[in-house]
Amino acid sequence: MQPFDDIDGEFKGRLREISTTTRSTVDNSTVTFRTAKIECEYTPKVIKRLAMGQLVAIPNVGALGSNSSYSLYEIADVYPMHYSMLTLDRSQPAAIRTEFMELIQKEWENGSKSTWIEIVAAPIGYVMKAADGVSYERRAMAPLTGSQVELLSRESIEQLICYLPSKAKSEDYSLGRLLGFTDESIPFSVNIESLIHYMCGTFAFTGSGKSNLTATVIRKALRAIPDLKVVIFDVSAEYGIHILDVLNQLPSRVLFTDSFGDSKNPAAEYFKRHATPESLAGREKDFYPKISKLFDDGKVEFLQTRLAGEEDVARFSTYEGLVEVLSNTLNEKYGPVQQKILVPQVVDIIKQFLRENRLELETRFGPKTSELIAKIQPLLADLPANSALKKAFDSLAKVVDAIPETPEEEEGYSWNKLADEILSTAKDSPRVFVVNLPEAEDARLETANVINEVFRKRKRSFTLSPRVLFVMDEAQEFIPQVTRKEDGTDQSSRALERLLRHGRKYHLNAWISTQRVAHLNTNALQQLHSYFVSTMPRPYDRQLISDTFAIDDAFMERTLAFQNGDWLLTSFKATATQNIPVFFHAENNEDILDAYLK
Ligand SMILES: Nc1ncnc2c1ncn2[C@@H]1O[C@H](COP(=O)(O)OP(=O)(O)OP(=O)(O)O)[C@@H](O)[C@H]1O
Ligand SMILES: [Mg+2]
Repeated sequence: MQPFDDIDGEFKGRLREISTTTRSTVDNSTVTFRTAKIECEYTPKVIKRLAMGQLVAIPNVGALGSNSSYSLYEIADVYPMHYSMLTLDRSQPAAIRTEFMELIQKEWENGSKSTWIEIVAAPIGYVMKAADGVSYERRAMAPLTGSQVELLSRESIEQLICYLPSKAKSEDYSLGRLLGFTDESIPFSVNIESLIHYMCGTFAFTGSGKSNLTATVIRKALRAIPDLKVVIFDVSAEYGIHILDVLNQLPSRVLFTDSFGDSKNPAAEYFKRHATPESLAGREKDFYPKISKLFDDGKVEFLQTRLAGEEDVARFSTYEGLVEVLSNTLNEKYGPVQQKILVPQVVDIIKQFLRENRLELETRFGPKTSELIAKIQPLLADLPANSALKKAFDSLAKVVDAIPETPEEEEGYSWNKLADEILSTAKDSPRVFVVNLPEAEDARLETANVINEVFRKRKRSFTLSPRVLFVMDEAQEFIPQVTRKEDGTDQSSRALERLLRHGRKYHLNAWISTQRVAHLNTNALQQLHSYFVSTMPRPYDRQLISDTFAIDDAFMERTLAFQNGDWLLTSFKATATQNIPVFFHAENNEDILDAYLK
């Protein structure tokens, strides 16, 4: 393997200087970036080949005496220079300036002694040893100014950046192709298991391609990870179309909270409710049979959003709620002293009862609860008839009496069933769930409920399979910086933060995507190990990303010139080497849909 590419002997570059810039961050501390200024000989071939995203190797102090240790830098900017440009100013007559510019223009054709190429590159924190065979090591070593710079070959870049799965086909792991290579196409493959496992975020201005990328990753991840289940909370009604092929191929569920099951043409209603990508507009006739298949296979279900407060009501039908009621009696100012003395003992009896019967605090009351009541009521016999404690247990006895021996079967699809299906290991259980939640408030509450419920069940089950990925597109709806109980942001933000912080231990993962990072819960953001960034026009957003994830400003600025579907990925886990900014163009999800519809 050739570690370097000298562009047919034409690439001759040297490190001229390392420049340092310090700026303040959004939270008023400071960050320092070091960039390398490299100049190399100008030839038309070289200038055409060099681009952002390519890697260069600069000899560092480790090379003294051995000549084989390099610090690796990634190119952030390339521009051609001409000596006469520097002296061209407006104090000269316009005619002379024009003459000079004509001269400069001619020299770009072949290059001359007055031309050179200026390269700005930022360190990626790796040292390359090229003594016998090539090896990479994560460490910083000072580069030597004046020394000769090498350009990494395609093979070296693949080795350094791309994850090559040992068994599977590499296209299942490829998200697109690397940017910066004009005359060849290098597939960019990542470790999808790690990408999912270590939590991931996508940040880009509206219309940059977030949902498109998300759909692509979902499709690849389901193929790469056999025990993965994906739950998409869809506030903008996109995924029922974006991954229609997957929904048909795998066991799946598409859930709606507004029923249109009785309509004459459910496929048309389904289509109407979705945002269809522009490139596929006017293809209703192709979509309808594919959507009808979902209905025929019984994959579309309808369910009602829970009423606000229903959670609280449910809590008071559990032992947890009972303990809460009991401890509240302690706060009663004029409550009988006798009652206050009894409360700790009663709570102890409840705990013992739960232990003996292997029940959880969150378990709902059932016929067995009467045994607990029978144990406690004699203790309360001496309390006055109007004591809150006594009354609580009298009411509880009545409630428990009314609970049927065998619980009624729930009719139709329910949120409980959703949580069960998500965690089911049955072979034909659904692997993909699209939960349509067009109302933001419902979306937050239900998302929080589902995540909490799945957490609770997973904790109790002592198993890590299946792995579950929760997808929250439009995350600004779920994790704003300032949260309120009334609109559900408090509940969703807490559930999501918990998922991001602790989900990994339980194989519960999150994928979030958003168009604005400002006003987002930054605690949640800091849990992400991989992030895809595309154009964000607001400087504040770019700076926040650069500060939070330590991406060099020089790279962030380049994202401004991105086309739809171009991404900057930085990952601590999913790329072959940690935390290298990778520029790539993602596969277009719409191409796959288009092929599916034909
Ligand atoms: N990988 C890609 N290759 C080519 N075009 C793409 C790619 N990704 C997205 N696009 C184009 O960009 C458009 C917008 O994509 P998408 O809907 O995914 O953006 P978004 O970031 O989710 O927008 P919003 O913020 O409005 O949800 C798509 O209709 C598609 O035409
Ligand atoms: Mg979108």
